[in-house]
Amino acid sequence: AADIQDDLAEILVTEEQIRQKLDELAQRVAQDYEGKDLLLIGVLKGAVMVMADFVRALPIQAPMDWMAVSSYGASTKSSGVVQIRKDLDTDLHGKHVLIVEDIIDSGLTLSWLLENFESRGAESIEVLALLRKPEAAKVEIDCKYVGFDIPPDFVVGYGLDYAERYRNLRDVAVLAPHVYS
Ligand code: PRP
Ligand code: MN
Ligand code: MG
Repeated sequence: AADIQDDLAEILVTEEQIRQKLDELAQRVAQDYEGKDLLLIGVLKGAVMVMADFVRALPIQAPMDWMAVSSYGASTKSSGVVQIRKDLDTDLHGKHVLIVEDIIDSGLTLSWLLENFESRGAESIEVLALLRKPEAAKVEIDCKYVGFDIPPDFVVGYGLDYAERYRNLRDVAVLAPHVYS
């Protein structure tokens, strides 16, 4: 099989930078939610790695739930149509929800999720996203915990995919254009 590294144009964020940033964010979240009924909601599938490392850096109790939505499919562009593939198991009434995401790109996925969770009676809702592309925003998302602002290139790794591939890279990298053009 071809080497994954040949498909990458550039490493953008390293495994070590991610670890340090998630440790910092976990300290902030622990302070902000002390004594509150915190529920972490991971957005499958991209947020799996972020959640796994973030929750282990978190020094307070926080159950996890998962929602599977998808808007990209096998494309580098968001379809704008968000589909639920797996719903939550948890009743959100009275819960302080922290949505855990890998990336805010156009913002369409999170804007849809925020509206959806608000209608379910959560006590508060905040967003943690490892990556954000300010120049790609189609809707503004109020994200309290951001890891890194990055340029609007298509990135993969650390949970982020292109057509379900590259999620297992340890770093976040820019996908070489020859892979999708
Ligand atoms: C990706 C990513 C975010 C969303 C961000 O998910 O994981 O959830 O797109 O893009 P947006 O801000 O433009 O909406 P995707 O739909 O590819 O599903 P996946 O997590 O299963 O890869
Ligand atoms: Mn996703
Ligand atoms: Mg995807």
